[in-house]
Parts: sequence; structure tokens; C-alpha cells
Amino acid sequence: MSITVYVPRDASALSLGADAVAKAIGAEAASRNLDVRIVRNGSRGLYWLEPMVEVETSAGRVAYGPVQPTDVMGLFDAHFLHGGEDVLKLGLTEDISWLKSQQRLTFARMGIIDPRSLDDYLAHDGYRGLAAALKMEPAAIVQAVTDSGLRGRGGAAFPAGIKWKTCLDAAADQKYIVCNADEGDSGTFSDRMIMEGDPFVLIEGMSIAGLAVGATHGYIYLRIEYPHAQRALEAAIEAAKARGYLGDNICGSGKAFHLEVRMAAGAYICGEETSLLESLEGKRGQVRFKPPLPAIQGLFGKPTVINNVITLATVPIILDRGAAFYRDYGMGRSRGTLPLQLAGNVKRTGLVERAFGVTLRELIEEYGGGTASGRPVRAVQVGGPLGAYIPASQLDTPIDYEAFAAIGGMVGHGGVVVFDDTVDMAAQARFAMEFCAIESCGKCTPCRIGSTRGVEVIDRIIAGDMAERARNEVLLRDLCQTMVAGSLCALGGMAPFPVLSALDHFHEDFDRSAPSLLNPLPFGERVG
Ligand SMILES: Cc1cc2nc3c(=O)[nH]c(=O)nc-3n(C[C@H](O)[C@H](O)[C@H](O)COP(=O)(O)O)c2cc1C
Ligand code: SF4
Repeated sequence: MSITVYVPRDASALSLGADAVAKAIGAEAASRNLDVRIVRNGSRGLYWLEPMVEVETSAGRVAYGPVQPTDVMGLFDAHFLHGGEDVLKLGLTEDISWLKSQQRLTFARMGIIDPRSLDDYLAHDGYRGLAAALKMEPAAIVQAVTDSGLRGRGGAAFPAGIKWKTCLDAAADQKYIVCNADEGDSGTFSDRMIMEGDPFVLIEGMSIAGLAVGATHGYIYLRIEYPHAQRALEAAIEAAKARGYLGDNICGSGKAFHLEVRMAAGAYICGEETSLLESLEGKRGQVRFKPPLPAIQGLFGKPTVINNVITLATVPIILDRGAAFYRDYGMGRSRGTLPLQLAGNVKRTGLVERAFGVTLRELIEEYGGGTASGRPVRAVQVGGPLGAYIPASQLDTPIDYEAFAAIGGMVGHGGVVVFDDTVDMAAQARFAMEFCAIESCGKCTPCRIGSTRGVEVIDRIIAGDMAERARNEVLLRDLCQTMVAGSLCALGGMAPFPVLSALDHFHEDFDRSAPSLLNPLPFGERVG
């Protein structure tokens, strides 16, 4: 009887040699006349153990990792096909504490199924959400999403149900569902994992969104740097079409939903929803004025729901298990779970899906195992390049949209990037402003000009110009306020937050040779 071995095809696992490992396992099995079936699954999200190979045994799946091609012969000798002992053996996958303590709802099938197999998806509760939605009126679907408390996972945390209702209520001959798969935030990869490891769940979520608002066409706007996700999505779309899950008559319901993947041009601003629409229409990715809201006048001027990959991929479980099931997870107004992406200076990087309320400290210490360098944590940037730098003293803050807003931070798309005590926070502040200057779409003055002037002012502060030190800090804070208040979109409106957080929490890094406002020279010697 054939033995099933899982070797991830996830982009991170591939970058660590997963293809060569799969090839070596196939060749070794052939040379030993063993009947082995290799399935290329998604990653379980334990990136420090990739390529992590799993073997289906009578006791369950047994994991080994990280496996290199040179380890393969030894694994066969150790009878890994029957769960044999080896230094690389990690035990039963489901018992690995990193996974066991998670609450995987959106990522329920991640690493378990073959992402290219619709049958495998169906065998693991796939398309149950769509089946439920097909029995409901559009308004009832929208109500279920509203009742679940699901808020947009792309960054702004806007309630998904309210957006859907606005689109449902807009009368039009054509409506669209657009999936924002631009995933531009630093240290984030949950969208990519879903698209590579469980693409049908996104297709199902978009189909449900189409039924809910009356849209018959959907686009996945995918960042150009994700070729593996593109292949996985296109294969899944073809399979769904062939079996009647996409097309003119989905599941014999008489309702149509068509879906296409569109490759993005590769600009951070194209993740902003209105720039994304411009880009999708074939124009330069530049921010549109709002109103009109995209839900009323979006793609090609038609009512359009734009949601992040994780938002849409979470919809099927809500329709399948019910709004109350999902809403029962979380804290305050942050309901459900969030796939957090742990990156930067930590021993163990990867995907942690937990209900809102888990603290940064739990994430970094329990899942991350502390810093990779072994030095103390100094700062954590949560929510991508526009997120504030959180100091070590605030690590007990629960991950909750409101709790983060209260400390001047944001949860955003759930990226968590850790820095140890060797980080230069003045350099990080400069990086934030420079990022904004480079990525600015140029439509509004506070961002286009302000970010460039901001870099110059930070450079003058870092240079330690004694005579102008205090004045430059006043100028920088004033400039940040202007950008926050006057920018057209959140790129210019939020880029000041990492800068201000660095000034507020790590002021000493700006005091090279110069006195500061918080640490002024004695009266009489003061400048400015
Ligand atoms: C500069 C900028 C970049 C953004 N990049 C992304 C992105 O890469 N992916 C994403 O889903 N949302 C991104 N957003 C948020 C989108 O504008 C929008 O809020 C989101 O697609 C809505 O989906 P959601 O409600 O499901 O989060 C970005 C916003 C800004 C201002
Ligand atoms: S804030 Fe920056 S990116 Fe946003 S509209 Fe203004 S110039 Fe463009």
C-alpha cells in the first residue's frame, strides 16, 4: 500500500529547498522499490522547521524537520515512512505545541490538504459555507457576516458586514467583488499562505460575497512577487470552474460568479483600495478621492466590495458554523481570530492564529522563543511599515484593535516584527519617512513633499547639529502632525506614527551629540 508523504510547496519552504527534498524522497523511494505518494501541501507555518516533511502513519501524521536533501537517505534508513526515530523527528504534527495551542479557524486546513485537489478541499469541510449561503437570501448572508463581528483584516478593521450592506443596497446592473491580495506590509505573509496552501477557501469566500451583494464577477488583485500563489489560484479556479463551483450556474443554483486573477504592478500604494481600483482599470495606481465609496462607485464605476484575502477566506467558516460560533472568539469589539505573522529577530518565525486578546509578550516569548540573537527585545513594529514601534514596556498589551489604538499603535494586517536592543531607532524613524517618500503616489502635498522634508529633518537631527537640535525636533513633530491631519490617504496619514513612536519611546537614539527638548541644556545655553 502506498504511503503518503507531505512536502510543502509553500514559497518559504521552496526557498529553503523543499523541491530538492521532494525530488530526493521520490528518487530514494524508487531506488528502494517503495510505493510513496508525495503530496505538495501548504506550510503549517512553522518556518524555522521548513522544509518540514510529514508522513501519514496509522497513529497520525508524523513530522520531521528541517529536512535537507542530504538527510533523506538517513530518514529512509531510520524508517521514517513508519514514523521511525531520527534526530529530525518532531513527533505527531498535531502534538507540536506551537500548533496545538493555536485556534486555527481561517487556517483550519493549512498544511493538511493538497491545495491542488478540490476533492481534498471538499473532504475537509470545503464548500459547506457556500452550500449554506445558497439557501439564504442575500440580506441574510450579509446579516450573518455583520453578526459575526468580522472586521477587515487588510488594515483598517472596517466591519465587513457594513461594507457588504452598502454594496447590497446600491442598485446597479453590474457589481464586483475585488480581493486585495497585494499584501504589501513588511513582515506579512498570511495572504500568501492562504492562496498557496488553501486557495479554494478564498474562492469560496468570494463566491459567497458575490451571492450576498449581487455581484457576478470577481477579481483577485495579486502582487507580482507571488508567482506561486498565482499558479495555485489559477489551478484552483480552473478546477472550481470544471466542477461547477464557478461559472454561470454555480452548484446548479442559477446564480453566476466568475473569477479572474490580475497581477499587480508592484507598488505599496496599489494595496490602498482606490489605487488598486485604478490599477485594475489599467491606469496608474493613484489614490482616488472618497466619497464616492467603492461599495457605491468602485471598479469601472460600479458598486464594488473590496476585501482583504483573510477577510474573504474567513467568510466560509462563518456561514458554515454560524455567526455566533465565530463571534465567541476574541475580546471587546475585536471578534474572532487573527492570523498573526511573527517575523524579525525571533528564534521561531511563522504563522500564529489566535483569538484577539493574546498579548505581544505571549507571541514573542511562547511562540517566538525570544529573540534569535538572545538579546533583550527593545521594540516591536506591529501592523506593517505604518505601524508604531511598541517599546518592551508595552508588550503586555492584548492584540485588540482598540487596545492598540489606545497606545498609539495599530494591529493592521497582523504583522509582528521584533527588534532587539541593538536597533537604532533614529535610523528606523528615518526609514519610515523614506519609505513614505519612495512609495508616495504624489497626489497630495503633505505626503509628497512632507515625507521628503521629513527625511531631511531627521538627517539633520541624526547629524547632531547642536545649534538646531531642539528646533529640528519641533519642526519634525509639526511636520508629522501636518501629514497626519492633511494627507489624503493612510500612507501619508500614518507614516508619521512610527516616527513619533520612535521619538516618544526611544528618544535617546536621537540624542547623538545633541541636547533634546526632553533633556534640555541648562537655561542660558538653550537654543531656539
Ligand atoms: C498605503 C496602503 C496600503 C495598503 N495595502 C493593503 C494591502 O496590501 N492589502 C490589503 O488587504 N489592504 C491594504 N490596504 C487597506 C485597503 O485600502 C483596504 O482598507 C482593504 O483592502 C479593505 O479590505 P478589508 O476591509 O477586508 O481589510 C492598504 C491601505 C493603504 C493606505
Ligand atoms: S497620502 Fe501619499 S500616497 Fe496617499 S494620496 Fe497623498 S500622496 Fe498619495
